[in-house]
Amino acid sequence: MAAAEVTSSPKTKGAWDVNRIRADFPVLHQTVNRKPLIYLDNGASSQVPQVVIDRGSAYLQQEHSNIHRGVHYLSQKATTAYEGAREKVRRFINARDAKECIFVRGTTEGINLVMYGYGRKFVGAGDEVIISAMEHHANIVPWQMLCEEKGARLRVIPINDAGELLLDDYEALLNERTKLVAVMHVSNALGTINPVKAMIETAHKYGVPVLIDGAQSVPHMVIDVQDLDCDFFAFSGHKMFAPTGSGVLYGKAEILEAMNPFQGGGDMIKNVTFEKTTYADLPNKLEAGTPAIASQIGLGAAIDYLSTIDRMEAAAHEEELLRYATERMSGIEGVRIVGTARKKASVLSFVIDDIHPHDIGTILDQEGVAIRAGHHCAQPVMQRFNVPATARASFAFYNTKEEVDVLVKTVERVIEIFS
Ligand SMILES: Cc1ncc(COP(=O)(O)O)c(C=O)c1O
Repeated sequence: MAAAEVTSSPKTKGAWDVNRIRADFPVLHQTVNRKPLIYLDNGASSQVPQVVIDRGSAYLQQEHSNIHRGVHYLSQKATTAYEGAREKVRRFINARDAKECIFVRGTTEGINLVMYGYGRKFVGAGDEVIISAMEHHANIVPWQMLCEEKGARLRVIPINDAGELLLDDYEALLNERTKLVAVMHVSNALGTINPVKAMIETAHKYGVPVLIDGAQSVPHMVIDVQDLDCDFFAFSGHKMFAPTGSGVLYGKAEILEAMNPFQGGGDMIKNVTFEKTTYADLPNKLEAGTPAIASQIGLGAAIDYLSTIDRMEAAAHEEELLRYATERMSGIEGVRIVGTARKKASVLSFVIDDIHPHDIGTILDQEGVAIRAGHHCAQPVMQRFNVPATARASFAFYNTKEEVDVLVKTVERVIEIFS
């Protein structure tokens, strides 16, 4: 099926028809440990609709070839599909130009690209990079590596007990040595939605560019990079109903132009001699070697899929699931919710007195319920809340209140077992 032909559930106006949406996702219709699968690990990776699977297999069956290099039919077809996916991404996030959308393997690679291409060129000894206390390791470790290498300083915006950024402290950290602010849009460990638009405006007052880690926001909200006015925005396809290996680093053209390439190799050059290499124009300059062609075409198909649903209704459904799950879980004695920000999206992290989250996860799995237990690649968040780990349920628009009921009932059973 050609990507442009992707059709699915027509836009659901008024009420969210969750059963019709669920029919689009084959993986949801199976049993695990003889129980119907209840998939509440969407923050780690979301499921893939049939139309995206079909698009991937059509590519592999009829179009597979390397891109940008061949004059032959298949190469041109693959190139058209790959570049078509880039244009879909452009529209999806409202970038000015498709060349501002660099294909990467995911958020981690996107942030590392900025660290290598921008950070190593523009951050020097005594300079500062600001991140926040709730970041995923993907938005901590690259900046630590950079600061170590350059003799620069990592500054951290603190958070309160609800898991919200302290914005006065943030502004106080900005100064003439600040070279970059890198913050997450939505926290994978706490669910907090950060006020990134206002934070970007504040940083720009000081002439500081801002990178937004959009891994957890893109699946749940409509993103407009021009409206946000962010300088970089990174996200992963596999968290937004596309295959693994797909992802995007958006950057404003002028800043991407000024950056050094991340990797050297094929496809990113204009001309190579042993004396000197000149680089290709954007986006190729930042995409060395053969990319994940099938995955990025799959990302295009996932964007097509999302255009067939009413995303406002999807977000409202997820919000109601989170509200319902929060209310029910808060009512269980011994359960403590970690992350109680006023604005949250789709993540419910919790701990139970004297029961390790891995035990909670294992018992839930026996009932077919998939959640995540661990530090969620956010160890500083665990340290801030004084817990070794949390159990985390994370919702997508295909989850139901009945699934939340099973989660709650099973958590009650976990407490009984351990009491
Ligand atoms: C907020 C956030 N940032 C970055 C990442 C890393 O994403 P990936 O592993 O797809 O590169 C994740 C993954 O969980 C995340 O939740």
